[in-house]
Amino acid sequence: MPADIVIRNARVIDGSGSAPFEADIEVKGGRIALVGTAGTGAREIDAEGQVLCPGFVDTHSHDDGAFLRHPDMAFKLAQGVTTDISGNCGFSTIPNEPGREYMPGDISGPGAEWTDLDSYFEACAAKRPAINNAMLVGHNRVRAHVVGLEKRGATADELAEMRGHVARAMEQGAVGFSTGLIYEPGRYSTTDEVVALASECTAYAGIYTTHMRNEGDKLLDAVAEAMHIAREAHIPLHISHHKSAGRRNWGRVKDSLAMVDAANAEGMDITLDVYPYTAGSGPMWQYVNLDNIDSEWAMGVMIASCPDYREFEGRMVPDIARDRGWTIEDTVREIVASPQGRQVICIHFIIDEADIETNLRHPRMLVGSDGIPVLKGNPHPRLYGTMPRVLARYVRGRHVLSLEEAIRRMTSASCERFGLVERGLVKEGYWADLVLFDPDTVEDLATYEDPKREPKGISLVIVNGQVAYEGGKHTAVGSGKALRFKQ
Ligand code: ZN
Ligand code: CU
Repeated sequence: MPADIVIRNARVIDGSGSAPFEADIEVKGGRIALVGTAGTGAREIDAEGQVLCPGFVDTHSHDDGAFLRHPDMAFKLAQGVTTDISGNCGFSTIPNEPGREYMPGDISGPGAEWTDLDSYFEACAAKRPAINNAMLVGHNRVRAHVVGLEKRGATADELAEMRGHVARAMEQGAVGFSTGLIYEPGRYSTTDEVVALASECTAYAGIYTTHMRNEGDKLLDAVAEAMHIAREAHIPLHISHHKSAGRRNWGRVKDSLAMVDAANAEGMDITLDVYPYTAGSGPMWQYVNLDNIDSEWAMGVMIASCPDYREFEGRMVPDIARDRGWTIEDTVREIVASPQGRQVICIHFIIDEADIETNLRHPRMLVGSDGIPVLKGNPHPRLYGTMPRVLARYVRGRHVLSLEEAIRRMTSASCERFGLVERGLVKEGYWADLVLFDPDTVEDLATYEDPKREPKGISLVIVNGQVAYEGGKHTAVGSGKALRFKQ
């Protein structure tokens, strides 16, 4: 029996962190059947010395809704991403009550007919998505489901009900529990509430991931809280999009990484992720207090998506203010208080370039895009560019980490962290999620001005043994799967 696909003459970087080696690969029945000298294949591909590595894992996605709205997942697939971890920052599409609108501008997408993880995964499978999907169950969603958007602590009954939803998601294969304690409604929860909910992951050895309560002036307090939660719940901790936001705080990622190192040395198990850009992005209303608008912050804000003012998309707030003759404060108010103001996504320049390098140098730092898949308007370029940007800018350009190490973090280390078994290595018997790219030319082309450009230098992406992207074309083979924790 010939192999389904044979890839010849590849320079294999296998995802383990070890040195490249020359080999052929045979793919059969969705898996890697051989790494060595190949026989014949129904389909033969000459890699001509390009790098063959495992498919990349986007450890921080908000694609829960995108798997249904954009099942081609083109913005991820073209980057070589073969698996998304969705449900981040406390925003998951489960639990769900069909027809209910949970939150204005909910970045995980409008609810549909599913109720829990099993039925959500079924709804996704019907769309034949291009890449694999693993999911965290999100605190903001669980709280919105049970408590609504009320600004108060949960009652004992509500807490019990919330625990039930987290437990059910874990039972159905969620990879862990996520929070976004900066956002509504999660910000109204006590630390004890989060400990109680995270504890529902303990029996499954699931992970606690967090967009911490503070990423600026009180970063270190927030790191301490995150550690306390993981320690009390006896589960591993993963800090999302690690940063020190706001100019006066730049450089302090070194202090929080020192806290992480000290805790790990004492037996904790902490990892982190980072996106390789100096701007963050999210629903604008979540960052704005209309009674006290932070104009210094607003000066560094670009509008990504704005249904009521499409002409503002891709423009900085100070430029809009100047054009309209408005103050900065009025501009923010006008945008956020417009009829569809809660749908507005903004991009804010809050991060120091040097901090990105400090982050990427850390051995426990994984890569996550944090891309928000609102394709109308000017999304943050990280949605289309994150993985190749690490390879182009930080590996090839600035030598912040080696190619083997970057690939290890983006593949096997990420799979291990999120309980994705038999993935993340170029190894016989493993699932054939593979990327072929030219390390000399691979590059992100998405910019803030022109954010929806697919990268160059990635010639082939295979998902579960099928060619999903080749020569710049999406094949629409739809071979992505739902991935359940350690299954
Ligand atoms: Zn976040
Ligand atoms: Cu996020």
